[in-house]
Amino acid sequence: MLNFDFYNPTQILFGQGQIAAITPLVPAGARVLMLYGGGSIKRNGVYDEVKAALSGHTVFEFAGIEPNPHFETLMQAVELVKAEKIDFLLAVGGGSVIDGTKFVAAAVQHDGDPWLILEKGGKTITSAMPFGAVLTLPATGSEMNAASVITRAATQQKRAFMHRAVFPKFSVLDPAKTFTLPLRQVGNGVVDAFVHTMEQYMTYPADAPLQDRWAEGILQTLIEQGPRTLAEPENIGVRANIMWCATMALNGIIGVGVPQDWATHMIGHELTALYGLDHAQTLAVVLPGILTVRKDAKRAKLLQYAARVWNITEGGEETRIAQAIERTRGFFEQMGVKTRLSGYNLGQEAIDAVVARLVEHRMVKLGEHRDIDADASRAALQISL
Ligand code: NZQ
Ligand code: ZN
Repeated sequence: MLNFDFYNPTQILFGQGQIAAITPLVPAGARVLMLYGGGSIKRNGVYDEVKAALSGHTVFEFAGIEPNPHFETLMQAVELVKAEKIDFLLAVGGGSVIDGTKFVAAAVQHDGDPWLILEKGGKTITSAMPFGAVLTLPATGSEMNAASVITRAATQQKRAFMHRAVFPKFSVLDPAKTFTLPLRQVGNGVVDAFVHTMEQYMTYPADAPLQDRWAEGILQTLIEQGPRTLAEPENIGVRANIMWCATMALNGIIGVGVPQDWATHMIGHELTALYGLDHAQTLAVVLPGILTVRKDAKRAKLLQYAARVWNITEGGEETRIAQAIERTRGFFEQMGVKTRLSGYNLGQEAIDAVVARLVEHRMVKLGEHRDIDADASRAALQISL
């Protein structure tokens, strides 16, 4: 096992009715800015419950944080925070709203050009405002991690940053609040959580059997519960299990002491930046290609994955690996997320454009061995044409 330094201070309030429990967690007398997206929270009762919980506080609102949140939009929130002397932020929504709030929290206290936060991946951050979150879409894990992904619309750049100052102080996970999700977002969330797990698991053996089994537990639970949530959308137990899987997939725990890949995410971010695909749609396209292109370097883990996650134990190694990759692709399709570029009306020109962007952004040493160069990324995309 590799050395590690694990830190996660986020308090999780899980279950139905937990929004009401945030009242004492927001400092008394704080001027609070509630940040949200395009209005889904006004249609499912979340907005009203949050307002009720904060009825004793002074609350301002910033609406309109878009999916794949824009730097340009968030800078308006930064201005509002400064103008109104806000001292606590509350993100209410999916990963985009939480990521956007993390950026605002850091940008308000950042010296110099705020885009440097993204340009330098968080290295220029020294402190951030405190904030909490009410999660409405299980997918990204942003509710319990210190990462954020922001898009600069003007230049079509989608970049990530991380810093320990942007862990949420608390996050509310009420599975009943996910009932209003469109099926597309339900499928997206399951695929995103699945791929987060794979990015930390599907590398090479690191003598970390506990981390492997945690990861396999999440993958198997998503495979079991994902299709059920599509078939039984009103089943609160299934919603709860999906929600907890998504949080556990990217709160740092399964990734301690093991090598990590993340090439699928880096390539996927370019696809979203250029063509606007949903985050999970890009992952469903890229992952099967990466697994295929890297099957020799990942051989031992692919065979373990085939056996333990998909019960594929018969046949030669090549056959078992090919079947495991096909089952993975089939699972994404079963969740309603297309796995071919053609499914999104994209063709060869998109591959050329994404590879050019990867080169421009110096994303040419990706993966756990830093050996996924532009040619390997091209080959991976070519497989999912
Ligand atoms: O804007 P509203 O009206 O709220 O609608 C949203 C949005 O249109 C809607 N929605 C959310 N909860 C709902 C709901 N609709 C009905 N009922 C509900 N309960 O869903 C749409 C998508 O929301 P969004 O927040 O964009 O989705 P998601 O949570 O998948 O977040 C995606 C973003 O997270 C980043 C992605 O790159 C992308 O920008 N990621 C963040 C990560 C992190 N911080 O660690 C890791 C991930 O790999 C990912 O990159
Ligand atoms: Zn993701």
